Amino acid sequence: MKAPLYDKLIEYSKNTSSFHMPGHKFGKILNMKEIPLLDLDATEVPGLDNLYDSKDIILEAENKMAVKYGARDSIFLTNGSTSGIIASILSICNPGDSLIVSRNAHHSVWNALILGGIKPIYINPSHNDEYNIVGGICPLELEKIIKNNPEVKGLIIVSPTYEGLVSDIEAISSVTTKYNKILIVDEAHGAHFVWNESFPRSAVEMGADLVIQSMHKTLPAITQSALLHIATDRINKDGLINSLQMVQTSSPSYIMMGLMDYIRYELDKEKRIWDNYLVQLTMTRNKLSKLEKLKLLKEGICGSSNIFNIDISKIVIFTDNTNITGVELGGILKDKYDIQVEIEADHYIIAMSTISDSKKDLERLTDALFEIDRNLKEKTPEKYEYGNNIIRNNETTKDIFTPREIYFGGQEEVRIDDSIGRISAGNIIVFPPGIPLICIGEKFTKETVQYIRMFPNKIIGVNKKDNEIKVFVSKEGDKNEG
Ligand SMILES: Cc1ncc(COP(=O)(O)O)c(C=O)c1O
Repeated sequence: MKAPLYDKLIEYSKNTSSFHMPGHKFGKILNMKEIPLLDLDATEVPGLDNLYDSKDIILEAENKMAVKYGARDSIFLTNGSTSGIIASILSICNPGDSLIVSRNAHHSVWNALILGGIKPIYINPSHNDEYNIVGGICPLELEKIIKNNPEVKGLIIVSPTYEGLVSDIEAISSVTTKYNKILIVDEAHGAHFVWNESFPRSAVEMGADLVIQSMHKTLPAITQSALLHIATDRINKDGLINSLQMVQTSSPSYIMMGLMDYIRYELDKEKRIWDNYLVQLTMTRNKLSKLEKLKLLKEGICGSSNIFNIDISKIVIFTDNTNITGVELGGILKDKYDIQVEIEADHYIIAMSTISDSKKDLERLTDALFEIDRNLKEKTPEKYEYGNNIIRNNETTKDIFTPREIYFGGQEEVRIDDSIGRISAGNIIVFPPGIPLICIGEKFTKETVQYIRMFPNKIIGVNKKDNEIKVFVSKEGDKNEG
């Protein structure tokens, strides 16, 4: 290989059937391979406007995007939803403020808390026992937390989840509006929602104040292309742009911005693309619902565990009734069929489908899953021990250190047994479902340590070396306590 990364990428794109992001699936739609990308690669010269002070051509494109998404203002992001999430949080909170954070938040949220010196108050999403995955946020639980913490500035939640499960944003926003709190929705996986009524309605339409979407995940934009929507008049756009400038590049990519504009225009013109895709997707889901041992995540989940709606573009397949794990299923799809999925978790896989998938692509995935299914042995699902009962509840996280105090206070690595009573210097995450068992700033307890010892392979954020589990604990927390 002469240029190892470049050569590998070209080979990978030629030989792999992609069921992962980015949503253009190597330029399979809208003649994307023909687009003169280098001609779009300009900079802030006269006539080409400026993202952080958009007045002209960028503003015009952003306004068209805002009309499409039903937002008051839409801002192009060129460093992914990550930058939009951090900027949103920094724009509504001052140092020392508190924010309600759903515990299944993306890790960028904790980075924002560290940068801003903001105190999290956690809300646990519901757990769905049938599929053993995380569901939605309960509006009543939210109201209780706001009443107990009237000083909070607002709330950030993830909807849809990675698996495509949507919370009741309308009910949640009526609570945040009642108490005059800002609702930020991380809709990173929902940029396609407004394009067809077969998808859930976007949080922009359902009362959220700020909504962040990755156009590169579920639409055919290139990686890092995303949108930040201001959906109500309670947000100060100038303040938001200031925060954004702190976390984004000072050379925002015109390729990304130009392509987002192009995609909006082309998809609006070619509405039948969505209809064709949805016919194929529905046929695919109908077939997959007949798998014998593997199990498709179906629409019937709505109505339980605070799940209001489901995004059918996410093809989530569970392996609990079989003799293989999700990781093994993902491996078979890759090794035998050259199909790469988005996530291989321990009891399920997520295959991301988008408008770029042809009938043939979806059939290839379906045929592979049926062939695998035929060769699997049936097995009674294990009772999966989810750490829900030992995840700290919201009352106990009130008077702890902020993520910023812990981050800048120094840390040391200790054996897991020596961590009891010490403060975690990072998030210790149970995956799946991807929820912190211990968040940065919280203490290790006997129960959490026992849980980590029982299921070390389900835990992210610990070091497993030399037959020993080690974790990072805070020095600062100990000093302050002493
Ligand atoms: C729920 C969620 N939010 C935010 C992000 C960050 O998105 P981006 O990659 O566009 O920065 C991700 C990335 O996977 C995500 O899954």
